[in-house]
Amino acid sequence: MTTEQLQAHFDTKIEADLSIEAKDWMPDAYRQNLIRQINQHAHSEIIGMLPEANWLTRAPTLRRKAVLLAKVQDEAGHGLYLYSAAETLGCSRQDIYQKLLDGKMKYSSIFNYPTLSWADVGVIGWLVDGAAIVNQVALCRASYGPYARAMVKICKEESFHQRQGYEAVMALAKGNEAQRAMLQDAINRFWWPTLMMFGPNDSDSPNSAQSMAWKIKRFSNDELRQKFIDNTVPQLEALGMTAPDPALTWDETTGHYRFGEINWDEFYQVLKGRGICNHERLEAKRRAWESGSWVREAASVHAKKMAAKKQAA
Ligand SMILES: [Fe+2]
Ligand SMILES: [Fe+2]
Repeated sequence: MTTEQLQAHFDTKIEADLSIEAKDWMPDAYRQNLIRQINQHAHSEIIGMLPEANWLTRAPTLRRKAVLLAKVQDEAGHGLYLYSAAETLGCSRQDIYQKLLDGKMKYSSIFNYPTLSWADVGVIGWLVDGAAIVNQVALCRASYGPYARAMVKICKEESFHQRQGYEAVMALAKGNEAQRAMLQDAINRFWWPTLMMFGPNDSDSPNSAQSMAWKIKRFSNDELRQKFIDNTVPQLEALGMTAPDPALTWDETTGHYRFGEINWDEFYQVLKGRGICNHERLEAKRRAWESGSWVREAASVHAKKMAAKKQAA
């Protein structure tokens, strides 16, 4: 088949909502776009373990600790599914991971904020995992099959993460004055960075239209952000807490909440590496990579020995 015929076949499949599989022909730009998106997503899962892991040794009860440990381990699993999904597109995991360590690939800006109190752990589960679900539920129908299928499993776990977070913040909201103040402070710090997780406004997001045409993205950044706000404000009110946004109001005519202007300058600063924890996060991953070198060496020696044994037999 000629490239034009292959392209036409690809377009027909996208049009008909049929999934594109690893061995199917796909335009190079589609492949490269997916490699970037899936790996950035994988990096976010892996880096996202760090802010919460910071509280594993200080969880207030054994139950909270066990739940948090399970959640942080889930995030490692999400990273692994996603690296595997990306590998089906022909990229090398080692190469991609090295790019993260070298600061040449991005991950979600939210993880460059510090976790200063126990309330932050609950708020991350509730707001950050809550925002991730809104994004990821839409990705369960992404046109690339291996990505969409990884998302289905991930979403099931994300909804547990969101619930454990909400349950933890509910306990604080029902607690004493100091606990409520700690919760409000965590919401104040995480509210706006969570809204930034959906990416720039549609008018400033040039790649989004192409991703939507390829049906990788099904909803625009602004649509997803609005959906998250509409879901979350009633939960915020149920807690008796407030958002740090005086412009947040219910709009009867549209049936949606209105909200204030996001500080995009902060978003771009964090993205450029100037967030509070950018340096610390990458440093932690570089240290882990170096201190794990003996495991990789041992594994490769073992693999070689096994291969030699097989050949001899
Ligand atoms: Fe996750
Ligand atoms: Fe999660």
